[in-house]
Amino acid sequence: MTRIIKFSVLMLSIVFIFSNCEKNNKNNQSEVDDVMDNFIDSLLQEMTLDEKIGQTVLFSAGWEVTGPTLDSNYVVYLKEGMVGAIFNIHSAKGSKEFQRIAVEETRLGIPLLFGYDVIHGYKTIFPISLGESASWDLEMIEQSARVAAEEASSAGLHWTFAPMIDVTRDPRWGRVSEGSGEDVYLGNQIAMARVKGFQGDDLSNNNTILACAKHYAAYGAPLAGRDYNTVDMSERELRTTYLPPFKAAIDAGVSTFMTSFNDLNGIPASGNKFLLTDILRNEWNFEGFVVTDYTSINEMIPHGFSKDEKHAGEQAINAGVDMDMQGGIFLRNLKTLVEEGKVSEKTITEAARKILVMKYKLGLFEDPYRYADEEREAATLNKPEFLEKAREMARKSMVLLKNENQTLPLSKNTKIALIGPLVKDENHIIGSWSAQGDRNGKAVSVFEGVTEILGSSKNILYSKGCEIEGEDKTYFNEAIRIAKQSDVVVMVVGESEGMSGEARSRTNLDLPGVQKELIAEMKKTGKPIVLVLMNGRPLTLEYENKTADAILETWWPGTMGGLAIADVLFGDYNPSGKLPITFPRNVGQIPIFYNAKNTGRPYDPKTPEITYRSRYLDVANTPLYPFGYGLSYTSFEYSNLTINKAEFSLNETININVTIKNTGKYKGEETIQLYVQDLVGSVTRPLKELKRFKKITLTPNQSKNITFTLTAEDLVFYTYDMSFKAETGEFKIFVGTNSRDVLENKFILK
Ligand code: GLC
Repeated sequence: MTRIIKFSVLMLSIVFIFSNCEKNNKNNQSEVDDVMDNFIDSLLQEMTLDEKIGQTVLFSAGWEVTGPTLDSNYVVYLKEGMVGAIFNIHSAKGSKEFQRIAVEETRLGIPLLFGYDVIHGYKTIFPISLGESASWDLEMIEQSARVAAEEASSAGLHWTFAPMIDVTRDPRWGRVSEGSGEDVYLGNQIAMARVKGFQGDDLSNNNTILACAKHYAAYGAPLAGRDYNTVDMSERELRTTYLPPFKAAIDAGVSTFMTSFNDLNGIPASGNKFLLTDILRNEWNFEGFVVTDYTSINEMIPHGFSKDEKHAGEQAINAGVDMDMQGGIFLRNLKTLVEEGKVSEKTITEAARKILVMKYKLGLFEDPYRYADEEREAATLNKPEFLEKAREMARKSMVLLKNENQTLPLSKNTKIALIGPLVKDENHIIGSWSAQGDRNGKAVSVFEGVTEILGSSKNILYSKGCEIEGEDKTYFNEAIRIAKQSDVVVMVVGESEGMSGEARSRTNLDLPGVQKELIAEMKKTGKPIVLVLMNGRPLTLEYENKTADAILETWWPGTMGGLAIADVLFGDYNPSGKLPITFPRNVGQIPIFYNAKNTGRPYDPKTPEITYRSRYLDVANTPLYPFGYGLSYTSFEYSNLTINKAEFSLNETININVTIKNTGKYKGEETIQLYVQDLVGSVTRPLKELKRFKKITLTPNQSKNITFTLTAEDLVFYTYDMSFKAETGEFKIFVGTNSRDVLENKFILK
């Protein structure tokens, strides 16, 4: 029988059995799984070793370059049945064409997986992930991923290389822009929200896509904040800080993992059996498949971990890698390694199986073209409701860092000087890793957004002032002139989108170019200064914090960024964002983060005369803006922090109550944060750890009583002998508007 007929027979039998299962007992998941297992077992028995190796091979189609090499022969390999997945194509038409080759021109017609970096939107671009994380709004974050999946799946894609869930405390590292910041608990919650948003409830629906937990693991802790650099830490630090979001992603049902470029304690992640088998498979029972990052198997040679490509391939497949992204190493070496007895065929069969399972769950064996519908694609991309969702998410992501004398919100009758290199930008505004977001004029600039909100540009004066980078001050005089004609100067300044993201580490986190000098010139005019920041990472803003009257952090706010910024500037939305990562005073403080330890000689600013304390001679120990920080146009008062008891046994629930009142004149959202300190442990413990948060809305003068519950499960940690458990003793709790300004209470765990 030809492959098509054979396949159809196979599929008909599956559909028949499946429909019977459906009829008889639709909830009997194990029967459905049996049907799938039988199908895949039969298929694997049909497959040659070459064809099984083919499933472990992923190549870029090169429609977008996301790594150092391309292989133009990927279609040749594909026709030989030696490619299981393709990435970096992005259209229903393209998906259909490549899928046709796989289904009709290879012996068994096994459909391809199509992957792409859909990080913060596919066509409708949402704020960068660090920005979305600043919303602390898990529902919105899930909806953002859902919109991305709707658009990406309509464009022929089955799999996104997201969420990026690397915890990091180092804003020199450019990829801080792609993640959820410095905190484990917040990172866990966001990882789960994003996985659920991408994958939905049923992968067989054609509007859901596979998610990918990346980059496994500890990629966010490179020495010196330099991308791809060495990572070395204790197993306790690894398990306490860098692994939890990956476990959370598994708890949310993530389908795939991606290995990271870095070596961890001397072993590159793509050859790290401790990570890929001992923890991922044996401890966490992960059942999905593991893809490497771009040529990261090949890179084990320059790492000095592999003698040559064949050695690297042997190490990677035996450590637990299932799919080789772009390296061609599995393609070129696995068969020889089996023949030489260095890799078992069973290992390859199991890798292929995990990949075939995902293709089956996506429904690709039933209908390989189900995601390649050009009409659906045209009807889905940039839907008005998606654009509105992106605007809402952008508003919620913004963090008000300063607002002296209620400079903001602005009156709509104000004469505004819009000044700065990013005022009319429609390119950088969608940030890095922006998939098919339009960079040619479709995104809404701040100038357009302000004009739309004011109904005309008659009250708007404009000067670029300067470029993002470079020393050119040609437009300074123009900027000064129009500033003097205005009531308020709104400066839109920041990085270029290419200054953060992959391979974009910086050692100087100041505003680049002559933007600070432009701010100084604006200050001399005596006009109120509002800074609107666009950047992919924390910046060092001591000068700006002293000079500006108001500062609004907008990150890279996405397709609807300009409108969302205008919504906030004029008070149509009261900013509610909270920093997911600490803003240092200067680079010398890095790494600086809220849940640090006390040390044996903690510095107390109340007794600066005591010399022998852990401090700097030239700068305070505290950051410029702490984790969890963000202002509002209104004010919130915290009171009555109580705990239902003073002492708890290990199996009791701890009830924590607090009252929040809106004491200002604007309706506003507040993210209440609950932190815990374990005062004494068999190892030293952080001063604070975020354990809960809750975002509420209050109208002026409205109060709410909020209850948080904790159990001993929330107090577990890796003790002296690496047991993961809570220890009895005294605990403090802190509740407040950020990690610094808190009410305090305490309890004893006995
Ligand atoms: C890149 C990135 C990774 C991305 C992959 C595919 O090098 O490290 O995050 O998913 O290659 O584009």
